[in-house]
Amino acid sequence: MQFDALPVSPFTRLNKLLDGVEPGLSAITMAVGEPQHAPPGFVLATIEKHLAEFGKYPPIIGPEPLRVAIAAWLKRRYGAQIDAARHVLPLVGTREGLFSAAFVTVPDQKNGKQPAVLIPNPFYQCYAAAALSAGAEPIYVNATRETGFLPDFASVPRDVLARTAVVYICSPSNPEGAAADADYWRRLFALADEFDFTVFADECYAEIYTERPPIGALEIRSETSRSLERLLAFHSLSKRSNLAGLRSGFVAGNAELIARFREFRNVAGPQLPLPLAAVSTVAWSDEAHVVANRALYGEKFRAAQAKLGNRFGFRIPAGSFFLWLDVGDGEAATVKLWREGGVRVLPGGYLSKDTAAGNPGKNFIRVALVNEIETTREALDRIARIL
Ligand SMILES: Cc1ncc(COP(=O)(O)O)c(C=O)c1O
Repeated sequence: MQFDALPVSPFTRLNKLLDGVEPGLSAITMAVGEPQHAPPGFVLATIEKHLAEFGKYPPIIGPEPLRVAIAAWLKRRYGAQIDAARHVLPLVGTREGLFSAAFVTVPDQKNGKQPAVLIPNPFYQCYAAAALSAGAEPIYVNATRETGFLPDFASVPRDVLARTAVVYICSPSNPEGAAADADYWRRLFALADEFDFTVFADECYAEIYTERPPIGALEIRSETSRSLERLLAFHSLSKRSNLAGLRSGFVAGNAELIARFREFRNVAGPQLPLPLAAVSTVAWSDEAHVVANRALYGEKFRAAQAKLGNRFGFRIPAGSFFLWLDVGDGEAATVKLWREGGVRVLPGGYLSKDTAAGNPGKNFIRVALVNEIETTREALDRIARIL
């Protein structure tokens, strides 16, 4: 593994950028995508009920009721026919799954060459760490306003596609909040079939949207492949249910891929503690708290629209809880907002790489609307005033 090539955490870089700079007003943190809404009410009672199970080693496949609840949710949400026994694995948060799935899908060589892993740019940094750790070459594919803020993987040269083993796609995307439509997914799966690579669909923001529920990878893949060939889709309770600290997500997809991943995880993967699996079962079975959660984000996006309106290329994203604002120089704006207004945001360039076609994040800041509404309004006022 090329340790020196690993990305430095955006938050380490942010701390360094703002080190020694005093906040001009009371601090409001909008840098981390950590929801501050209250966790759902059923958490404590469910843990208490299952307390004794902390004494047991959990099975890597998780308890059956959890897998059944996940399959039922996938059916409700995407109309996908999912076999709870063969198509689903619980994860200890999606991050570890997004990382370790690369080890079972990236071969030593592909068509006689070093395998490539295609990564949207900007991107969730874990993807690059996974590609590098699995011995692949990460290839960063820019997502810009011109490409609808999603990467155009078909634009990658054919010799690179020929050695591509895995493609990461985040929809709705962090940081831009763009959601793949049915055509986008269809084109991606056609490319996967042509060049024989696996699609890792990171859909952990799938339940945070303002208008339409974003279309999912599983629903579109079911159209052409009942066996969900070449697909692993990742979902999380962190954002959907305000349970980032529970560390609970799942991966669903092709049965052979899941079986391979299960074998790997059986000797090397973390297991979800049984009482936390029980909480997850209740969470995936309940929609009321998700609807209420979504309404809170909707209110904040409307407030943002009123305050930032037609500035900075403002748009309400199709999904996720981020504003992706074109401020000209993301680092300079970040320092200014902190120094003058105590508002902590993330420079877009800390989530993206320099490429031959430029760095698609460096003009932007990412603003996470994770605080309560009043705090959010105050922060938006300060942003509108200072920038
Ligand atoms: C794009 C993206 N993928 C995955 C994750 C990881 O989520 P989890 O809490 O399920 O590990 C995050 C968390 O912020 C994220 O932004």
